Amino acid sequence: MKEHTLQATFHIYETDTELPQADQTLLAHAREALGYAYAPYSGFRVGVAAQMANGDIINGSNYENAAYPLCICAEQSVLASAASRYPGVSVTALAVVVKSAHKTISVPAAPCGGCRQVICETEHKNQQDIRVILQGETGPVYVFQHGRDLLPLAFSDSYL
Ligand code: THU
Repeated sequence: MKEHTLQATFHIYETDTELPQADQTLLAHAREALGYAYAPYSGFRVGVAAQMANGDIINGSNYENAAYPLCICAEQSVLASAASRYPGVSVTALAVVVKSAHKTISVPAAPCGGCRQVICETEHKNQQDIRVILQGETGPVYVFQHGRDLLPLAFSDSYL
């Protein structure tokens, strides 16, 4: 028997003002996207901004449904949108912010497992690392250099 330890490295910035300007701009776009979230059931808004390799930024937000399993996560919405609006252009960074109607969230919210899988797929498809920048409504910012750091032992096409 061998033991194997999985590790992931990320950086913590105490405030968003410590971030490079490009990351601050991306976070500002994600915050704007909170306003377009449709979250009447959970009251949990997720705003995302994707930095495209050609310099453009596109927004996405969660889109809920009275049939709960049909709720669409913000990260998946923006990555699908990026693929169809910008064929052949890679996503280089993703900023994700959240805001709850019920409480102040002062730590970054981790993307769900399904979103991590879709972020990994996008990295693989484009052969391009995606920096993932996470912040709550207030508080510190977590920066991951690669989406795959969020999903150790990810399922991939290597199994198919
Ligand atoms: N949600 C996202 O948009 N992204 C995630 O990574 C986790 C959850 C949304 C789905 C639903 O609209 C609400 O947050 C509560 O789960």
